[in-house]
Formats: sequence, C-alpha cells, structure tokens
Amino acid sequence: MIGVYFSGTGNTKHCVSTFVKLINNESTSLPLESKDTKNYIRNEKDTIVFGYPTQFSNAPIFVRDFIRKNKDILKGKNIFIISTMGLFSGDGTGCTARLFKKVGAKVIGGLQVRMPDNVCDVNTLKKSKEENRDIIYKADIKIKESVKAYINGHPTQEGLSAFSHIAGLFGQRLWFYSRTKNYSNKIKINTDKCMSCGKCTTLCPTSNLIMNNKSVESKNKCTMCYRCISQCPQRAITLIGNEVVQQYSYDKC
Ligand SMILES: Cc1cc2nc3c(=O)[nH]c(=O)nc-3n(C[C@H](O)[C@H](O)[C@H](O)COP(=O)(O)O)c2cc1C
Ligand code: SF4
Ligand code: SF4
Repeated sequence: MIGVYFSGTGNTKHCVSTFVKLINNESTSLPLESKDTKNYIRNEKDTIVFGYPTQFSNAPIFVRDFIRKNKDILKGKNIFIISTMGLFSGDGTGCTARLFKKVGAKVIGGLQVRMPDNVCDVNTLKKSKEENRDIIYKADIKIKESVKAYINGHPTQEGLSAFSHIAGLFGQRLWFYSRTKNYSNKIKINTDKCMSCGKCTTLCPTSNLIMNNKSVESKNKCTMCYRCISQCPQRAITLIGNEVVQQYSYDKC
C-alpha cells in the first residue's frame, strides 16, 4: 500500500500518512506535486490511498486534473479515497470516485474525515487550538476504525453512495461550481505588508507564485490550497477574504 495526497495545510497529509502507517508500519506516502509520485503509482500493485481536501464540496482542480491526465498510470489500480473537510462535503470522496472510474481505476472504498478548517482569511468555522486538537483526536479514532474495516476486508464506503452524490451536489457543489471550475486568479498580495522573503514562492505546489523585482506575482494557476496564506510571515496573502484572521497549519496544532 502507498499513500498519495494533495494537502495545502497538512490535514490530508496527516490522514493519509496515518492510514498507510497503521497498515504498513511505515508511512510510504508522497505529495501529488512530487516529481516521483507518478512512478510511485505506476509501480504499486496493492492499494493506493489517495487523499485531498474538500473545496466547496468538490476536489481541488489540481487533483481532478491529475486524475484526468494520468489515465495511463491509474488504469487498473485499486484506489481507497480519503477526503478531509472542515465541516461538510456530501460526496467528498465520490466526486473523484466517478473520475477514477472513468480512467479505469477501481475504487475500493472511501473515508471522509472532519479536520480543522483551514480557510485563514474568513472568520466562519474558526476554532481554538484546543478545539482543533479535539477534532484531530476524533479524526484519528475514525481513521483507526476505518483501517480495521479495511483489514477485515470491508473497506468503509463513505461518500460513495447515490445519496451522498445528491447531498454533495445540492449541498454546495452546484452553487459554488464556478469557484472550482478553473484554477483561481484571486490571490491578493498586500504589497505594503510583503517583505519579499520569497517563502510563498517556494511553498506553492503549482508554482503559481514567482518573485519579480522583489514583488510576488501570481500566474493565475492557484489551486486554492491556502498553504502560502497560512505560512506567510507577514500575513500578506489573502484569497477568499481580505484579511488573515488566524493562520492554520496542521503542524502548529
Ligand atoms: C477553498 C476552500 C474551500 C473549502 N471548502 C470546504 C467545504 O466545502 N466543506 C468543508 O467541509 N470544508 C471545506 N474546506 C476546508 C478544508 O477542506 C479542510 O480544512 C481540509 O482538511 C484542509 O486540508 P489540507 O490541510 O490537507 O489542505 C475548504 C477549504 C478551502 C481552502
Ligand atoms: S511569504 Fe509573504 S512576505 Fe514573503 S514574499 Fe511571500 S507574500 Fe511576501
Ligand atoms: S498560490 Fe497559495 S493558495 Fe494558491 S496554490 Fe499556491 S500556495 Fe496554494
């Protein structure tokens, strides 16, 4: 078993790595943006645990693009999907399960895990550190139970039913589809706050941010992962909101 994940702020990385480690005794997991990931998938004969965060009850476009563009390596593979969410996703796993089926992969199970919300520039859903730790504690219990079911030959099927599909579609995806349809061009850099340290440009998984004459420029390839926003030392970057209210990353919980 291997793990492959897309994770802006660490939640999904944690969930996929924990799942895989409980089965393999070691965490053989790689981020989707790594140059080694495709070979990793190509060579895997057992299950691939594939994780990503929910965005407006959908998978990030970066993740959907990866699946669509890699039919050759995904065809015939066994996939167990983990989606993480701040509150609600409906069919957080189901929305890629349908894509995986289209490229000829076999989806053997799904798990939807509630983790802390990572949208740092909007006040809604913000929790204290203690509350976030409690959410993670409960998530870990849920992952352990799902691992048990997997080992017993009955992988959990969360988010994969027709009912979940309807919940995801009408709960959010339909109304917010335009936000995840393309890569975003909505990243805002506050030039008064930015100190040109370059940290965001090295962190971005899509190389969307570049330094140009000591200013940060966005190339409109943002997949809305919130990594740069949660780690900018100057809190100079925003996306949905206009001010960073509380930076979040799993490592700081
Ligand atoms: C742009 C965006 C949209 C999101 N939409 C949802 C959502 O529809 N439902 C939900 O429960 N959480 C939503 N979240 C929260 C994340 O799914 C959640 O915090 C996730 O665990 C982050 O994972 P990561 O740290 O691996 O990136 C959203 C986060 C972002 C950045
Ligand atoms: S991380 Fe923040 S301060 Fe550093 S270059 Fe990026 S926007 Fe500027
Ligand atoms: S610009 Fe920021 S939010 Fe957008 S993909 Fe890059 S790191 Fe993620």
